Amino acid sequence: MNIRVETRPKAEVECDALVEVAFEGEPPQGAASDQVKELYDSGEFSGKSLEIAILHRPSGLKAKRLAMAGGGKSAKFNSAELRKLAGAALRALKGKGVRSIALSLGDAYSADEFASAAVEGALLADLEADRYKTDPKKNEKQVDSFSVIGGSEQAVAQGRIIAESQNFTRNLANEPANVLTPTRLAERAKEMASEQGLECEILNQDRMRQLGMGALLGVAQGSAEPPALIIVRYKPAAEPATKDHLGLVGKGVTFDTGGISIKPADGMEKMRYDMAGGAAVLGAMRAIAQLKPAIPVSAFVPAVENMPGSRAQRPGDIVTTLAGKTVEVLNTDAEGRLILIDTLTYAQRLGCTHLVDAATLTGAIVIALGGVNVGAFTNNEAFLNKLLSAAKEEGEKMWQLPLDDEYKEQLKSPFADLGNIGGRPGGSITAAIFLRDFVGDTPWIHLDIAGTAWLDDAKPYMGKGASGVGVRTFVRLAQTW
Ligand code: BES
Ligand code: MN
Ligand code: ZN
Repeated sequence: MNIRVETRPKAEVECDALVEVAFEGEPPQGAASDQVKELYDSGEFSGKSLEIAILHRPSGLKAKRLAMAGGGKSAKFNSAELRKLAGAALRALKGKGVRSIALSLGDAYSADEFASAAVEGALLADLEADRYKTDPKKNEKQVDSFSVIGGSEQAVAQGRIIAESQNFTRNLANEPANVLTPTRLAERAKEMASEQGLECEILNQDRMRQLGMGALLGVAQGSAEPPALIIVRYKPAAEPATKDHLGLVGKGVTFDTGGISIKPADGMEKMRYDMAGGAAVLGAMRAIAQLKPAIPVSAFVPAVENMPGSRAQRPGDIVTTLAGKTVEVLNTDAEGRLILIDTLTYAQRLGCTHLVDAATLTGAIVIALGGVNVGAFTNNEAFLNKLLSAAKEEGEKMWQLPLDDEYKEQLKSPFADLGNIGGRPGGSITAAIFLRDFVGDTPWIHLDIAGTAWLDDAKPYMGKGASGVGVRTFVRLAQTW
């Protein structure tokens, strides 16, 4: 899909469909205003959020169609709403065979923030997880061009970089696990890094042994697929003003069977998205390489497959972590935290002063927050507030959960320094408490994205499958540092 800035006034724009935002109780004036008013009066269209109505041969416009896109209450409208609305309009029009779309921002919403969001919404909505469908007809309905009337070139370019990076993440997380093994994930990271001019280094199993990453290796040992620790680095061209160095750590379990503590068959096929955190930090690096924030950012992705092979770790095994602490593996399905702790330790050794991890860590977060909010945890409130405000600006909903010391009781092991599970009560919290034990005083945020990284059903503005949550927040966090 071609993305363009349209400089002609909207009445002059020739396209299959012109999209205009229309609010509840406020029929837009101007083009085709009689037809528009009729739509409102008849109750066929009320301007409710994400509602779409299509008028043909609108009077006063060169566009073949006018697509009215419901913006909800105008007082509540913002760029996050526009992102979804642009996406919903694109998906509705694409389904009807429309090939060229122009979106009118209107004077009140001409700021860069809105232009970027519209482009992002369109590109995110256009992606379908259908790469393995061989039906030659599947591409018959395609939008060739999407233009933003009145946007700045710079805002449109930035929106495109961010959405394409989020789609890079989504494509990775949608890949089946027979295709995207840890080795292939590392290769994809390398390819991306060399295209974008980033440094990339892969630690193999031997190197992990030399270093003493016993927790990571314990998870990997049940699979015939070797693990890889992916490291991607961005350094700003100019000497940064601070010593800060942001580390983004993403869980990269290419498939989670549960290991010897095996999962039930029902729904297990979804566990290919257990590398969505890793994919999100790689996607963020892709955008960061192009948008060039002022601080250094490094991404770390421990990539493993959690399998119940004959060499697999057993419940009751005790592993020694890179940090030197011992962990009793009470449940091999709590593997995410095991691979993350060694990686968090390594990221600190490599000089990261601030850490954010993203992980599809617990089923319990799906119970607590559903598919709406990411669960956020921290040892540093000021740092989290910074990230939460970036998330809010980007329309990625996140909700903080507590980390009281009392929860640590649940992780006690009679035989090792820690057990790797804390029982059912507060399952997402005890997982986060476990991670916290390995970050010391380094400001750290843990994002549990198990409920938000995958859409079981398509939304009006996004297809089924991986959502790419986290990418936009990470990019904004780096850019506004
Ligand atoms: N990858 C899963 C968490 C998950 C669940 C992600 C649902 C996406 C959707 C994780 O490795 C896991 O298995 N967690 C266990 C932890 C338990 C054994 C303490 C869980 O949540 O059941
Ligand atoms: Mn698991
Ligand atoms: Zn997992």
